[in-house]
Amino acid sequence: MKKIISLSLLLLCGPMFAQTVLNTEHTSLVVDNDGNRPLGIIFFGPRLGADDAAGLAAAGYGPVKAYSAYCDEGESSCAISITQADGNRTLDLCVVGTEVSEWEGGKLLTVTSRDRHYPVTVRNFFKSYGKEDVFETWAEISNDAVARKKASSEIVVNRYMSGTLPIRVGNVWTVTQYGSWGNEGTLLTEPLARGIRMVKNIDGVRNGHTSRAEAMISLDGKPQENSGRVIGAALEWGGNYVLEFNCFNSNYATFQAGVCPDNSEYHLAAGETLKTPALAYSFSDEGLSGVSRNFHRWGRKYRLAHGNVERKVLLNSWEGVYFDINEPAMDGMMSDIASMGGELFVMDDGWFGGKYARITDDRGLGDWFVDRKKLPNGIGWLVKRADAHGIRFGIWIEPEMTNTMSELYEAHPDWVLHAANREPVTGRGGTQLVLDLGNPAVQDFVFSVVDNLMTENPDIDYIKWDANMNVREYGSNRLKHQSHLEMAYWNGLYATLDRIRTKYPDLTIQACASGGGRANWGVLPWFDEFWVSDNTDALQRIYMQWGSSYFFPAMAMASHISAVPNHQTHRAVPLKFRCDVAMSARLGMEIQPSRMSEADRDFCRKVIADYKRIRPVVQFGDIYRLVSPYDDLGIASLMYVAENKSDAVFYWYRINSLYGSRYPRVKMQGLDPDRMYTVEELNRIDDKPLSFEGKSFSGKFLMENGLEIAPVVHDVRSDLKSDYASRVLYLKAN
Ligand code: GLA
Repeated sequence: MKKIISLSLLLLCGPMFAQTVLNTEHTSLVVDNDGNRPLGIIFFGPRLGADDAAGLAAAGYGPVKAYSAYCDEGESSCAISITQADGNRTLDLCVVGTEVSEWEGGKLLTVTSRDRHYPVTVRNFFKSYGKEDVFETWAEISNDAVARKKASSEIVVNRYMSGTLPIRVGNVWTVTQYGSWGNEGTLLTEPLARGIRMVKNIDGVRNGHTSRAEAMISLDGKPQENSGRVIGAALEWGGNYVLEFNCFNSNYATFQAGVCPDNSEYHLAAGETLKTPALAYSFSDEGLSGVSRNFHRWGRKYRLAHGNVERKVLLNSWEGVYFDINEPAMDGMMSDIASMGGELFVMDDGWFGGKYARITDDRGLGDWFVDRKKLPNGIGWLVKRADAHGIRFGIWIEPEMTNTMSELYEAHPDWVLHAANREPVTGRGGTQLVLDLGNPAVQDFVFSVVDNLMTENPDIDYIKWDANMNVREYGSNRLKHQSHLEMAYWNGLYATLDRIRTKYPDLTIQACASGGGRANWGVLPWFDEFWVSDNTDALQRIYMQWGSSYFFPAMAMASHISAVPNHQTHRAVPLKFRCDVAMSARLGMEIQPSRMSEADRDFCRKVIADYKRIRPVVQFGDIYRLVSPYDDLGIASLMYVAENKSDAVFYWYRINSLYGSRYPRVKMQGLDPDRMYTVEELNRIDDKPLSFEGKSFSGKFLMENGLEIAPVVHDVRSDLKSDYASRVLYLKAN
């Protein structure tokens, strides 16, 4: 329940109390809301005592504009820019009211600002999540004009960032992420340079491939995983965005994030309000991993669908059979995954279509009825077979898309995003198009795709929801203002997902977009997990999962054991290494088990059984990244520790194989220094156990020194020898 604990309103600009302090367990955000000036932020960092918060001004800490307007004096890049109804392009905001209310998890500060002359109101929100040390900020921009008959009262909002964070310059470094299909979440770590540095995404309906909507900002030089002051920020928005660092010759740089302003100006008629997506941010003095832990806890509790429910171990059919779906193959895969201890089977692409049966990727999207040639007994039979095997059934759909070769497109050619007087610009298969989710009829259709499947087969447990195309044509035949397309699409999709979630609250849904295109906190509230990448190569997955773990918890990262040579990189990575990597996130398989040897299936059976033992720690524990693959030390290492420190899982991967290389000994983190932990190696292939197998060590020793991983190559019979080595250690407090 919202409880208002302080309220102050001025009708006109003028002085009122100067600052509001929002505290979380370990951090403070101090907002300047003096009525003489625009909104500012005075402090964001470690939690302040009341006296120190009151003494900030005396300490020389002044406000930095938190929502600067075009053309505030000296702003290189404003947070908001408006064209007034009379063409005036300036906005002169000052704070007129402040309200602080309480909600179950923290506080909500609303600061209301008004233009000194024009009827424009901006509300900036700051929401604290007390236990998780996370804040969210967003804005609402209102045209308060009274509609007039003759003169226009419409304003145009040209730029509407979600929020701004001041960054005190010094030895500041940033970590952003870039990538491409098959290489998502690559880290770029660099000092904050003078000028404007921008991360921008205009992929439209998915935004996690070419760049990511999150950034880490280290205030203490090159960022460390487990020490130093770091701010992490994540824009909660699935569409186009910018992250912008502005660093000029002043004490403060600023970080801004919001909807990408390119061609996205928003027209507001009299009485209308535009709401921006939220920007979440968190401060930690425990390095990058500290920020990650805050985001993971916050995400699991407040954002991720079913963030408190263990994820099942699954087999997905894609790399096993691709489009070659048929009943015996599906039944065989279900039987195989069940026999290995898996809990769910997901039938991927290729099961649907009539006139344009989905035998390749250039046809059929939109025709969401079963292809009876492939599956004569329909989905119902498969669901029953899954039940007979003692597992659950899941299915792939791509409901926001169509192909020019589809019955849907033939019936509704006007349902796609398409710019007038242009040839359609197609995507995958040379025929794919994006449906116009701003259109209520399309929203109903997308809802019905899920609703029909679920009505006919209420026992479907899981949906893999794909989106294999970006927007290549910015055009909607419904919109008066084409620049509203992004907002219309995403608000339409969100509304549709709300309907689905209301009716099917227990369904597990994976966000897939040609791999990791929808790894974003603006999408995950409706989804349980995301497919990290179409690239299932274990070695490269170490890098991609490392980057993805900066903001997303392991339980949300789908990570599958696949075949060798790998279908994307053609690398042949031994099964143990593939399992050890997949086991560090939400474990699954992406392989045709019938092509595996009996020995390999046995190995996977054991892996799955052990994963179930460590699943609570991996999926709900705290992450400590220990040695980064990006540091070129020849290894990568991370661990998860249960919140009560009763157990932990430690991962060690050798990522180069140059003979004679020496690797650092890895200090563990997050354990209880005063408890003894017994070590058990999982997925062991070595003939002899490691020297520390079954032995106990204090948390203090493990964190101050660490175990000597030896041998660093597997001591194993010759047919299992390879140039890869990895270890998974399960630590249990005695
Ligand atoms: C995308 C997904 C894959 C698979 C295919 C099916 O590429 O990322 O996992 O589902 O589509 O066409």
